[in-house]
Amino acid sequence: MSGGRPRLVVASNRGPFTLEERSDGSVALHPGAGGLAPSLAAALAGRTDTVWVAAALSPADRTAAGRSEDVAVESDQSGLALRFVDIDDETFRSAYDVVANATLWFSFHGLFDASRRPLFDRRFYEAWERYRLYNLAFAAAVDAVAAPGAVVLVNDYHLLLTGSALAQARPDLFTVHFSHTPFPGAEELELLPPSVRAELLGSMSCFGACGFHTARWAGGFRRCADAAGIEAPPTFHAGLGADLERLRALAGSEAVGRHASALEERFSGRRLIVRSDRIELSKNILRGLRAFDLVLHEHPALRGRVTMLSRGYPSREGLPEYLAYRAEVEHLTELVNERWATSTWTPVELDVDDEFSATVAALMRYDVLLVNPVRDGMNLVAKEGPSLNTRDGVLVLSRFAGAYEDLGEDALSIHPFDVSDTADALVRALEMPAGERSRRAAALRSKAQHLAPAAWLEQVLSEARLSGRAVTRPSC
Ligand code: G6P
Repeated sequence: MSGGRPRLVVASNRGPFTLEERSDGSVALHPGAGGLAPSLAAALAGRTDTVWVAAALSPADRTAAGRSEDVAVESDQSGLALRFVDIDDETFRSAYDVVANATLWFSFHGLFDASRRPLFDRRFYEAWERYRLYNLAFAAAVDAVAAPGAVVLVNDYHLLLTGSALAQARPDLFTVHFSHTPFPGAEELELLPPSVRAELLGSMSCFGACGFHTARWAGGFRRCADAAGIEAPPTFHAGLGADLERLRALAGSEAVGRHASALEERFSGRRLIVRSDRIELSKNILRGLRAFDLVLHEHPALRGRVTMLSRGYPSREGLPEYLAYRAEVEHLTELVNERWATSTWTPVELDVDDEFSATVAALMRYDVLLVNPVRDGMNLVAKEGPSLNTRDGVLVLSRFAGAYEDLGEDALSIHPFDVSDTADALVRALEMPAGERSRRAAALRSKAQHLAPAAWLEQVLSEARLSGRAVTRPSC
């Protein structure tokens, strides 16, 4: 980094890279998993004033954290430096698994099954205490690296309590929190105990500003704050767009070319419905399968002529709910296949791996892209697909995906809980005349690129500067 302490500090639980020590003692960088880190990393390309603070996830990350030194990234993101926060295992598991993923994630995506969960027992409150410690450790790391008056961009539900900690320790900073998830309505957030809800919203109100991908999630946050009697900070929405440059480079790569040829061979002459998701409860993979089953039941002529290619990235397998969900997805896939398969055709092909080049090849090749989450902060697949697709493929899109605010007009919209509606939309997409397909595909392509990562970051940072410094209210 040039010229001393960073003017921009980014903080997120998972960083853009983890370190791995090789047998010869050198250290290699591996890109972090998930959708958030690669987009944010792309947005930071070329900046030389930035440190990214993230949890140490590998042994080599921990060694680097112990030295309290920044690790320079030498790659297409060179200029960026990483600072790892070493958090003991018990604290990390409680903060990440119990609070962030099993409680806040479920709350924000409206996924609680209220007959059983949420359940706030002693174990939860112990985990909540650890979530506080984890947030304090992040705030201390940001405090240690940030130059006076720096902008600090904090990401997601893992780090909601850094707002109050930073406001107290560093009122000179311009802090902004960005949620890449949805934000629930006031009644849904009331499922959290009042003390927890008040602490979360109170801390969020101490950021200089809070950002969301859509007006709907920003409005949800303001209403939650209102209902809790907490003064919301300035809020804004900025819907992240697809990174066309990165996608184009990938599309032209040898690896994608290999996958594309393999797909051609595998599905030659067949129409393809593609989906690509982390295997997460919010993605609604089960209802997608039921909808396709219904299509095959009601439209015999489509049997043998259409395949659903479902690309699934295993996710958060430390949580029993995720393991059970994956097992259910695999089981339902088998059932649909048993019902309709012939000796030459498998209706649903489930590829469970996290090879992005194979996903890019599938996105280039789809006739229909199914994006049907029950709720999603944005859903970048809905934007990456139309940017990459070469066949004027049709997007079938859930009304509750953040991307719907940007793309809804040119997609076929569905209510994600309505399997009949989804089945009808899939058929309509498969039967759409070429002229309409091409008109919609062109409009989607152009809208999907609005606020590509670099422009998105500029907007977020200017909102941070405009809104001013972190707030010190009594609640902070
Ligand atoms: C998804 C969400 C992000 C979140 C990330 C965390 O990508 O959209 O908002 O930060 O998951 O994933 P992780 O694998 O680190 O739990």
